[in-house]
Amino acid sequence: MSGGLASPWILGTFLLQSSSLPTEFSTSLATFGGGAVCRSHFRLPKDLKFVLHDALDSSGFNTTYAREAREGFCSQIKKLSKIERETSISINGEVDLGKTALYIAAEDDSLISHSSVPLPVDAFIGRLDDLSTGYCSRYNSSFTSSPDIFLECLERYLYVDKGFRRTKSSNHLEHRAVYLHSVLTHRVGSMSMLSLIYSEVLKMLRLWGLLKFDVEVSSPNDSYGSPRGYLKHKNTESDQQHIVTTEFLLLKILRDLKDAFWPFQLDQSKSPFLRAAEAAHCSDRSANVDKSGLELASAKAARHRLERGVWTSVRFGDIRRALSACERLIILEADSTELRDYGVLLYHCGFYKESLQYLKLYQDTEKVKQLPDLLTNMEEEAVEKLIIRLNLILMEDDWTRPSSIASSLYNNTDPW
Ligand SMILES: *[C@@H]1O[C@H](CO)[C@@H](O)[C@H](O)[C@H]1NC(C)=O
Ligand SMILES: *[C@@H]1O[C@H](CO)[C@@H](O)[C@H](O)[C@H]1NC(C)=O
Ligand SMILES: *[C@@H]1O[C@H](CO)[C@@H](O)[C@H](O)[C@H]1NC(C)=O
Ligand SMILES: *[C@@H]1O[C@H](CO)[C@@H](O)[C@H](O)[C@H]1NC(C)=O
Repeated sequence: MSGGLASPWILGTFLLQSSSLPTEFSTSLATFGGGAVCRSHFRLPKDLKFVLHDALDSSGFNTTYAREAREGFCSQIKKLSKIERETSISINGEVDLGKTALYIAAEDDSLISHSSVPLPVDAFIGRLDDLSTGYCSRYNSSFTSSPDIFLECLERYLYVDKGFRRTKSSNHLEHRAVYLHSVLTHRVGSMSMLSLIYSEVLKMLRLWGLLKFDVEVSSPNDSYGSPRGYLKHKNTESDQQHIVTTEFLLLKILRDLKDAFWPFQLDQSKSPFLRAAEAAHCSDRSANVDKSGLELASAKAARHRLERGVWTSVRFGDIRRALSACERLIILEADSTELRDYGVLLYHCGFYKESLQYLKLYQDTEKVKQLPDLLTNMEEEAVEKLIIRLNLILMEDDWTRPSSIASSLYNNTDPW
């Protein structure tokens, strides 16, 4: 598995400056296994696939709408070129970000709502459009004013007239603030949702020929500010850093979901991966000695809930939505650490063979990268330990099918 330097997996953290990016980029399409993986910049093993939908299917959960929404998501991500990844979200590109965000919401909605109808993506697209037409009718004169006045009007419209505001809870994102459809309804959103709405309005106005200048959306670097627009040529070096690019936005939307529904929530000072890895070690009694009571209790509680198919709670996440976020982050192919995070969740679900595959794939793609610091070293050690344990587990028994934990996990389709 050598993607070489051209592999976008190796780009690692979503760097915003484009100068350091490799120039070669393959846009080959690949599908493998039963799952739909839209783009593959390096050859993934044929038997590598995602588990969530199949596991739900095999427990009698109807995944029709979840699969449709996933396909919608993939069909958008397929269009994401390297250039567009690095392009500001306010530039009209191939990817319809509003739709993409709604497909993300639609899949999760189908996983939890038991509704006999899918989330009406088109109706919410209509609401986004209404926002833009609403602006035109109310601030019609702003199009002939100076850019500064236009931006002032737009922000007054969004944040005062329409009342959109940033969610206050910083540690734990409100669930309704991370899905576009509920943000359009409740007007409370995460930074990424507000940036998305802001830029979708800008795109519409540009599409209608009303906007005569280039506006960028910049994300605030604090946890309470709202996204602001500014004139492109006016940006300073420091603004440049905060321009929201398409890839950054998509990563942020999905990572917000992953973080919000990650089953191991205690001790936010550690990365989600480390928390999950430590929970795995805690469940092994011999490793318990030097763990604090709180960590131990948290790990046990998470494990207990997983074993009983208790899916969701404020403190203990929602494994299905965490898995769906991880799978879509992998489809995005922006950061190989997503392979690792998915791998550790699979471990906790008892999908040992698959877990091992993803962790190994992570290690293989990571080998080319060299940014060791203390934190990543701890994480690399944890990956190593997990792989050793998985190899032992798999040697002991024929674990090719999901374990009893996995099947009970997916059997429980109605915890609400
Ligand atoms: C699953 O749901 C879809 C849409 O409601 C329906 O058309 C389909 O028949 C269902 N499949 C099963 C096996 O119930
Ligand atoms: C603004 O509204 C006036 C009348 O209300 C109309 O004549 C004019 O064309 C509109 N301008 C724009 C830019 O839509
Ligand atoms: C962003 O953060 C830097 C420090 O990291 C601070 O100096 C600056 O004022 C912040 N900018 C905004 C717009 O908050
Ligand atoms: C899953 O549910 C089905 C029926 O809903 C049941 O027959 C089966 O035994 C359950 N499996 C487990 C592992 O609980």
